[in-house]
Amino acid sequence: MPLQHLTRFPRLELIGAPTPLEYLPRLSDYLGREIFIKRDDVTPMALGGNKLRKLEFLAADALREGADTLVTAGAIQSNHVRQTAAVAAKLGLHCVALLENPIGTRAENYLTNGNRLLLDLFDVQVEMCAALDAPDAQLAELATRLEAQGFRPYVVPVGGSNALGALGYVESSLEIAQQCADSVAISSVVVASGSAGTHAGLAVGLEQVMPDAELIGVTVSRSVEQQMPKVVNLQQQIATALELEARAPVLLWDDYFAPQYGMPNEAGDEAVKLLARLEGILLDPVYTGKAMAGLIDGISQRRFRDNGPLLFIHTGGAPALFAYHPHV
Ligand SMILES: Cc1ncc(COP(=O)(O)O)c(C=O)c1O
Repeated sequence: MPLQHLTRFPRLELIGAPTPLEYLPRLSDYLGREIFIKRDDVTPMALGGNKLRKLEFLAADALREGADTLVTAGAIQSNHVRQTAAVAAKLGLHCVALLENPIGTRAENYLTNGNRLLLDLFDVQVEMCAALDAPDAQLAELATRLEAQGFRPYVVPVGGSNALGALGYVESSLEIAQQCADSVAISSVVVASGSAGTHAGLAVGLEQVMPDAELIGVTVSRSVEQQMPKVVNLQQQIATALELEARAPVLLWDDYFAPQYGMPNEAGDEAVKLLARLEGILLDPVYTGKAMAGLIDGISQRRFRDNGPLLFIHTGGAPALFAYHPHV
């Protein structure tokens, strides 16, 4: 059985898997192509999203270590921090978050609404920093300070993207393969690629269970050159943890994230509107709107390897809509 070692890793049940995998009839008509969507935006906790899959493994590890505090970092509007905070609340743990303002905005909605508003509801202890330019070191320093105050911190890396967290997306691959099994032969899968755990986990999992599908990561913050080593290193670490070989090439498109991480662009915003109006599905301006813009453009530019059905991984993020309107 492929991926048999996955069961060796303790895991909490947070997402009520499997999430739905749906056909999008009106978008398919509009684009002239069969489009399916994996609804990881509707995981049941705290407005959903991809980080909950990673946190199933990371929070289990934190409990095993006897931690009383989850410590993590991200942008003021980080979906990852919001989901980590919700999990901490559910488990009765304290949560401390180191936040940056990556776009240097003073827009009130960005600073106080959307994900940031929810952090207050979850009673997160927030620390601001000028920039998360060395997040691992910054988190380690924060954890040391918390220890000195008597806490037992567990550091959840940015985006939950280490090999342990990424196992959540290896598991998601199993779900996708089962859901597609007899009904549809997916040709290409499209996912937003940021801190890379989602992309790398899917790369390892899909290679095992859907080897004929190509996986495209649409970058949301980096060029192909910068993102490639992040995805490949994580892919190899996951494979080692699961005693597998990972040979699938990592495919990245970096044409859709301009002007920079966290700043919306026109094609991304158009994709957000299109999904809302055709399917009643909410994407977001920072991750899934840009990834969907890649899918749409990829069809018109014939970037996919054939004309078969596409699967879009909806990784969540809609709470940020309230932070980005009006645009910052
Ligand atoms: C909504 C959403 N989509 C995609 C991503 C990217 O996932 P990853 O960081 O695993 O690459 C994130 C990460 O923050 C996110 O919040």
